Amino acid sequence: MLTLGIETSCDETSVALVNKRKILAQATFSSVRFYRPYGGIIPEIASRKQFKFISLIFRKALKDSGCRSSDIKAVAVTQGPGLIGSLMVGVQFAQGISLALKIPLIGIDHLKAHLFAAFLNRKEKIFSPFIGLVASGGHTNIYLVYDFDKMELLGETLDDACGEALDKVGRFYGLDYPAAVYIDKLFSLKFVDRGMFKIKKRQDFNFSFSGIKTAAVYKKTQEQRQPSFQKIVLSSFQYAIVENLILLLQKATETFKIKNVVCGGGVLANRFLRRRLQQEAAKREWRVLIPPRELCSDNAAGVAGLGEYLGKKRGFNSGEIEPYSVSKRD
Ligand code: KG4
Ligand code: ZN
Repeated sequence: MLTLGIETSCDETSVALVNKRKILAQATFSSVRFYRPYGGIIPEIASRKQFKFISLIFRKALKDSGCRSSDIKAVAVTQGPGLIGSLMVGVQFAQGISLALKIPLIGIDHLKAHLFAAFLNRKEKIFSPFIGLVASGGHTNIYLVYDFDKMELLGETLDDACGEALDKVGRFYGLDYPAAVYIDKLFSLKFVDRGMFKIKKRQDFNFSFSGIKTAAVYKKTQEQRQPSFQKIVLSSFQYAIVENLILLLQKATETFKIKNVVCGGGVLANRFLRRRLQQEAAKREWRVLIPPRELCSDNAAGVAGLGEYLGKKRGFNSGEIEPYSVSKRD
């Protein structure tokens, strides 16, 4: 079922066309370069850029797909969580398309779409149950997933999201926004001091990164500055975060006796995290599914794919779609 996906939850304007989980085209415009002077996203700039570019991005995706607008059978749009002004641009556009083409509409949860991206362009069935990890700039959530409309949130971050913690600490050490991307590039195991940042073991499935974030800030003022000081601190910081994510996945897979793991979100583009997941998969006989790096950050393909899947399973929305800014529980 040819489904149009629209994603505008944060700083991307992304439009995709997906049919039977296969991506026919995706066009994405990122406004990230406009935030470099500020070191973080400015919501008003994000929504203004989305408002300006969404029609253009839609036309580009349609042209690249080789389809006509009359071929589109449904439209799926990110409903939340995200920046409310940004979400409103995507939702209004999707409602307009739905009215103009007389096709059904479905609102999609951004975090579920990150996980669904792992199943795109693949022939294998959507398996379940699985342990789901979403690690991004706004969320660090771990789920027990029975299906995409039946997910139990096991744990979440109590403070910063892991992408956010990497971005903030990297910025403090002089890297451009989004700093996590540059930490990934400079990271090397040979710089890692395993004892530098210790995340306390927790009884539950929640995450907390603000303690090591503060420790990283103090390091800059306390320690002697050797030439490789920045690389040592940032590599050790990223190492601690990645190992913490792996630890909680181990705990969840053991507790629920589930060997299927599906991950998504911008932080999954991280090369060390991807390598560690593959190592754990081999060691613990996990079946791990991670989207290709380009489908880890915000993208409309996951939204379209999940819209097609859920629309077929339980029908489309009939009325209006109201965006939400904070996470919804199933
Ligand atoms: O999923 P996403 O694109 O947007 C949100 O929903 O938040 O995730 C963005 C986050 C940012 O914090 C960004 O710095 C981080 O993902 N990120 C990375 C990498 N690429 C993007 N973190 C670690 N390594 C990367 N290569
Ligand atoms: Zn995201």
